[in-house]
Amino acid sequence: MTHTSTERGSWGSRIGFILAAAGSAVGLGAIWKFPYVAGANGGGVFLLVYLACVFSVGVVMMLAEMLIGRSAKKSATSAYRALGKGQWHVAGWISVLCVYLILGFYCVVGGWTIAYIVEAVKGDILTTDAKVLSDTFTNFIADPKASLLYTAGFMAITATIVIAGVQAGIERICKILMPALFALMLFMVYRSLTLPGAVEGVMYFITPDWSKLSFKMVLDALGLAVFSLSVGAGLMIAYGSYLGTGTKVVSAGLWIAFLATMASVLAGLMILPAVFAFHVDPAAGPGLTFITMPALFAQMAGGQVLALIFFSLLLFAAVTSSISILEPAVAFLIDEYGVERRTSTLIVSISNYVLLCIPAALSFGSMSEDLKVFGKTPFDLMDFVASNLLMPLGGMFAAVFVGWRIWPSIKAVLVDEVHAHFVHAFRLFAAVVSPVLIGIVAYMLITG
Ligand code: ALA
Repeated sequence: MTHTSTERGSWGSRIGFILAAAGSAVGLGAIWKFPYVAGANGGGVFLLVYLACVFSVGVVMMLAEMLIGRSAKKSATSAYRALGKGQWHVAGWISVLCVYLILGFYCVVGGWTIAYIVEAVKGDILTTDAKVLSDTFTNFIADPKASLLYTAGFMAITATIVIAGVQAGIERICKILMPALFALMLFMVYRSLTLPGAVEGVMYFITPDWSKLSFKMVLDALGLAVFSLSVGAGLMIAYGSYLGTGTKVVSAGLWIAFLATMASVLAGLMILPAVFAFHVDPAAGPGLTFITMPALFAQMAGGQVLALIFFSLLLFAAVTSSISILEPAVAFLIDEYGVERRTSTLIVSISNYVLLCIPAALSFGSMSEDLKVFGKTPFDLMDFVASNLLMPLGGMFAAVFVGWRIWPSIKAVLVDEVHAHFVHAFRLFAAVVSPVLIGIVAYMLITG
């Protein structure tokens, strides 16, 4: 059953779309996840593999999703059904499952950013003692009440913006927050690079140590590349569906990929030099940004105000992404079942909080051992299944769909926008390289 709905909305301008899609891409993936995953995977070699993933299959998958959305003017499931017929809508269902899983753990980390804003106001976290910072973080995430409360707060902010709609909510907020985020990150990079001992962190980040190259690392890099480009979960299909037919997708997509990659690299240059300067373990895991940045602020004049600004912007980066994660699930109910936007948002956000956010938030405290499934906490399991499995798979479906199933119409769009060489390269990566690469990764995963 497919409904046309006046609830869908559209972007007000091309720059509005680019900033909203960049807002989707630049989020916790770049600022929270990239530094700690790069830190744990040996730094430089991870950066190279990550960049290779982004600028090969990552960009192609992202453009494929935008093209699907813009062609169909519908969210993933309805778009695959309308354009592809047959069983293609199953790819849409997988993407809805994927965003639902991401939302579950994303809101928990979003909650941490709110908690750190509160901590910055209190001033208690401003110390250069890595042990104190690490203990503060560990104790906070292990506290079920605080964690559940902040997670609920983050979900409420996300839902409120999504209820406001595409232009009035999502586009307006991204236009203000994205430039502010980049300006602050550049300032922080400067401060981090001028710390005594920072050079060791820079070398760690840019010098490839090939002995660290492993299958797990490639899987992490691929997962993070698709996660930080918001690819494979129908996010870019939903955002593309609000585009006018005249908007050029390729140049917009390349801008978005560039901004997303810049954000990751800036985050690496902001966090890793400080990690080495303050003797934090680069493999410290999910707490790395939260443990390192306060130490940096503690050394600076006006550090408390800067800490407040930094964690506020981290919250904004997270929110501009979380709204794009909630949006496809909301658009799914609007497009498929004609549910009104507000009701749809409430159904998705409340059910997600109860079913996924609660177990994800409780993954770090005394219950963590009891909650483990397949040896992973609910938080880690949601992250692994969504980021490392479903997103690459969903991105591959989009690429194959565009590269084979609807290629003639996509080719007609692309030849109007870009040079013939780009069109050939795009098709090669969409139709052949993406499925072969994901096939190899899947084979290696299955055979252990
Ligand atoms: N691309 C989004 C992020 O990195 C999901 O946070």
